[in-house]
Amino acid sequence: MSWILSAPKAELHVHLEGTLEPEMLLGLAARNHVSLPYTTTDEVRAAFRFDTLPDFLEVYWAGLRVLRTSQDFYDLTYAYLVRARQDNVLHAEPCISPQGHTQRGIAFDAVMEGVLSALADGCRALGMTGGVILGLQRHRSEEDAFAVLEHSKPYRDKILGLGLGGPERDHPPTMFARVFAAARDLGWRTVAHAGEEGPASYVAEAVDVLGVDRVDHGVRCEEDPALVRRLAERQIPLTVCPLSNVTLKVFPRMESHNLRRLLHAGLRVTMNSDDPPYFGGYVNGNYTAAAAALGLTPDELFAIARNGFLAAFIHDELRASYLQALAAARQAALNSRVGSGGTPGVSVDAGRVERDGGPQAGVGGCRRRISLSSAGAEPTERAARSGFVQPTNLLSSFS
Ligand code: ADE
Ligand code: ZN
Repeated sequence: MSWILSAPKAELHVHLEGTLEPEMLLGLAARNHVSLPYTTTDEVRAAFRFDTLPDFLEVYWAGLRVLRTSQDFYDLTYAYLVRARQDNVLHAEPCISPQGHTQRGIAFDAVMEGVLSALADGCRALGMTGGVILGLQRHRSEEDAFAVLEHSKPYRDKILGLGLGGPERDHPPTMFARVFAAARDLGWRTVAHAGEEGPASYVAEAVDVLGVDRVDHGVRCEEDPALVRRLAERQIPLTVCPLSNVTLKVFPRMESHNLRRLLHAGLRVTMNSDDPPYFGGYVNGNYTAAAAALGLTPDELFAIARNGFLAAFIHDELRASYLQALAAARQAALNSRVGSGGTPGVSVDAGRVERDGGPQAGVGGCRRRISLSSAGAEPTERAARSGFVQPTNLLSSFS
């Protein structure tokens, strides 16, 4: 199991707002003179208790009030990249939901400038690639969604794609069919949350009506076996977030999570963290918890990590280099047999590399990495100035 923790990984489903750690929440509240009902990180953590998606969203949205300036969004994004890199996430496609900010008077440009600058600086400093996805909130109107698209036009070449999040029940994907068609006309890739709180039919709508490239969560697709077969045939990726699903009671316990069954049904299952401090773990935390509860084998872990790079919005050359690095990590574990549980002499194939069209990650971050092992450990001046990123030991857990 330990080899997967230090193996190269992609993260395709994480909300930047959902990476707001209690320390940063309190720090930003102080910096921006926002009063909160908590004064210590223990009090914040104690408030991070919820049983359902709507319960969670209430706590989550209340905390967003501390994010006010472009620098705040920069610090949030940069800190996520640093933390993800410690799990050896080399490619990240985080999402930001501008409506959660513009609705409370924050300028769209402040959000985008902060996020895009941090992605560019952070990816460069940390030896990563990535790009941002704009997440629409499904409880708001179609008109509001079109306004987001209009605002984003100056940034259109720096945005990877459009997503859809928020309370799923009673907000079917179909409501946003025209918006997603317009996003595709902008040349963007598309993703949508579906089949988390909502039924399998929402997953089908996301795929058939919105035409998404990936489904966020999607785990309730299992309620419709014909849909599972279709997702497998078309290799539509699911960005699964096990700790999120257990916290929000999509599954009562990790042992009953269907990730392994979906993988064996031939679905392109990937591993992601969603809103890590709220759900108790970043990417490696999700690998660890799922592997322990479901008894995932090294080959299954390899397949999941490989799916992450196959499902990423990146160009073929970059995909090939990531797949090769992942295969090398697996092979090294097999050779040493330390923590791999593997069979000596078994070799690992980086697998077929698929061609894809559409925008590719790096547009708002780093387009191309020079080397898979050349990460610098020093934060940019802007990140260091914030006080949220320490200048040393950024990559202490990565060798
Ligand atoms: N926004 C942040 N996390 C979310 C989740 N798990 N589902 C829907 N919307 C979200
Ligand atoms: Zn999510």
